[in-house]
Amino acid sequence: MTGTADISRVEAPVTMKAYLMCAFAAFGGIFFGYDIGWMGGVLGMKYFIRLYTGKQYPDDLFDSVDAEGYMDYKLNFKIPAGDQSLVTSILSAGTFFGAIAAGDIADFIGRRLTIIMGCIIFSIGCILETVSTTLPVMVVGRLVAGFGVGFVSAIIILYMSEIAPKAVRGAIVSGYQFCITIGILLSNCVVYSTQDRDDTGSYRIPIAIQFIWAIILALGLFFLPESPRYFVKKGKLDQAAKALSSVRGHPLDSEYIQDELAEIVANHEYEMQVVPQTSYISGWTNCFRGSLNNGASNIRRTILGISLQMFQQLTGINFIFYFGTVFFQSLGTIDDPFLISLVTTLVNVLSTPLSFWIIERFGRRRILIIGGAGMVVSQFIVGIIGVTAGKPSGETNTAAISAMIAFICINVAFFATTWGPAAWVVIGEIFSLPIRSRGVGLSTASNWLWNCVSLYRLPPFPP
Ligand code: BGC
Repeated sequence: MTGTADISRVEAPVTMKAYLMCAFAAFGGIFFGYDIGWMGGVLGMKYFIRLYTGKQYPDDLFDSVDAEGYMDYKLNFKIPAGDQSLVTSILSAGTFFGAIAAGDIADFIGRRLTIIMGCIIFSIGCILETVSTTLPVMVVGRLVAGFGVGFVSAIIILYMSEIAPKAVRGAIVSGYQFCITIGILLSNCVVYSTQDRDDTGSYRIPIAIQFIWAIILALGLFFLPESPRYFVKKGKLDQAAKALSSVRGHPLDSEYIQDELAEIVANHEYEMQVVPQTSYISGWTNCFRGSLNNGASNIRRTILGISLQMFQQLTGINFIFYFGTVFFQSLGTIDDPFLISLVTTLVNVLSTPLSFWIIERFGRRRILIIGGAGMVVSQFIVGIIGVTAGKPSGETNTAAISAMIAFICINVAFFATTWGPAAWVVIGEIFSLPIRSRGVGLSTASNWLWNCVSLYRLPPFPP
């Protein structure tokens, strides 16, 4: 089999089927987003706090809100900070290791089965979280569920990047980011609607809803084909051809399928010649081979993937989604902080689709630069207003508070159209096939590591 010289002919025209397959795979983002969104709300639920701390509700213990000691008791009616940190961060620990392990597993059993396996592990974690009435069970549940999310979040990107037609790959992987934003929004809405219940439904409903995402994703993947690139890596060219014909929606013997397959094989053979993979260990060490001065070396690609995901988290975006409500409360002048927090989540959802177009139109690098600059300016303005006209004091400066909220929303819109999707698109594209699954796994693990670190470095809101 030989490669083709006519690059414009290499890929088949994009069919509706190809779009639908990728759109379905992007659904995995809901998983990711929903999991980011529910914990913060559940930790603040009064039923959950009573169950886990054994403390009585403040209003049951005191006759009136003016009674002596009421305020003190109310302020301490919460899950201890150490336990809050534990249940929040243990998820990131699970996802970190899950994403690294998943890269290996995806090369052994295939991308599709690894994602299905991730859904099963996640569901086991969910069962533990749902039945839990003590902290240790909840912690173990979060760890197991996190491991599953690690599998899904890393391998969905790998799978989508490998099956998406090149011409629309950026837009399609951005669809994954769009699903993440919808997941965050959904979890906020579910938590809001159950938070005042005085029974286990208050936290069990938001947790149990996650099963729906796992079941839909796992069932759907049973019917989707494996990535043709996985079969090429395994040397199973007949199966690769069948999978390619299925994802492109063109007959097996069409010139498009034959040419694209020849191209994938030629690329793979070339990469294997340049950096041979002789053992399991060399599979990993290959990710760090090459010269730091060579922009195309494996080590440069790995550093790029890991640092892109690190900087995506260091934009501080999750501060807004995890602590938005608390931050708006701290301004002291907003009637419904939850509502403002919902607005930022909505801005995130509604501005993401713009990235489908700009990521293809302007390219990944340019939008990362513009988005980064936009966020720096917006965050400086929020900071400056926050320590001057908007500083909490006796008098309310409504204009200053409104300006801060507006610039927080602009900051979210810059993230949602640039760094949010582009960081995922780039890690799906930069790695050559021999190191792709591990490279994507390492980069995704970096996302979760810095997700955790960035939130722990930051105080929940400005003093
Ligand atoms: C990030 C998440 C973040 C989300 C917000 C994703 O790309 O990886 O950490 O919460 O975007 O939309």
